Amino acid sequence: MPRRTLELLAITLTSIALLGALAAFAANAGPAKGTAAAGKAIFAVKCIACHKADGTGGIKLTGNPTPNWKDPKVWGDPKRATDDYFRDCITNGKAPSGMVAWGKTGQIKPPDIENLIVYIRTLGGVAKTAPAAAAAPKKK
Ligand code: HEC
Repeated sequence: MPRRTLELLAITLTSIALLGALAAFAANAGPAKGTAAAGKAIFAVKCIACHKADGTGGIKLTGNPTPNWKDPKVWGDPKRATDDYFRDCITNGKAPSGMVAWGKTGQIKPPDIENLIVYIRTLGGVAKTAPAAAAAPKKK
């Protein structure tokens, strides 16, 4: 092969590899991949002031109070069926209620956001992303 072709091939392959790595980094989506222990350590420092150490919340600043993650009814809300919802809250915050945009402000890095999501789910005893059907409130 002519040298120029080889160079182009090398550049193309490098670009594809870089784009792949970038996509894997930027596009955290779906079930969180992290560990509860690592999430708990951060939670204890940065989150308990408003969410309480046991996750029962109830602290009201300016808008909605912090949710009670120990209440099964709270987990019955379909919006909490996916980790994407939690990822969005921790990344972008909820400004009207005083929830900090931890990710956007660079205070918490994406891998630790994943760890936090996994930990928050353990508070409610919901270890994994529940399938939408299973997330519907159970009739008693
Ligand atoms: C200054 C108080 C404050 C701190 C500190 C705080 N939060 Fe929040 N957070 C809130 C409030 C208030 C809400 C409710 C927002 C709403 O529903 O409008 C909330 C909501 C959330 C939600 C959405 C919960 C749900 O079930 O709807 C998540 C997830 C969350 N916080 C994670 C965290 C994590 C993780 C930390 C620590 C890194 C943290 N928060 C620290 C005030 C705080």
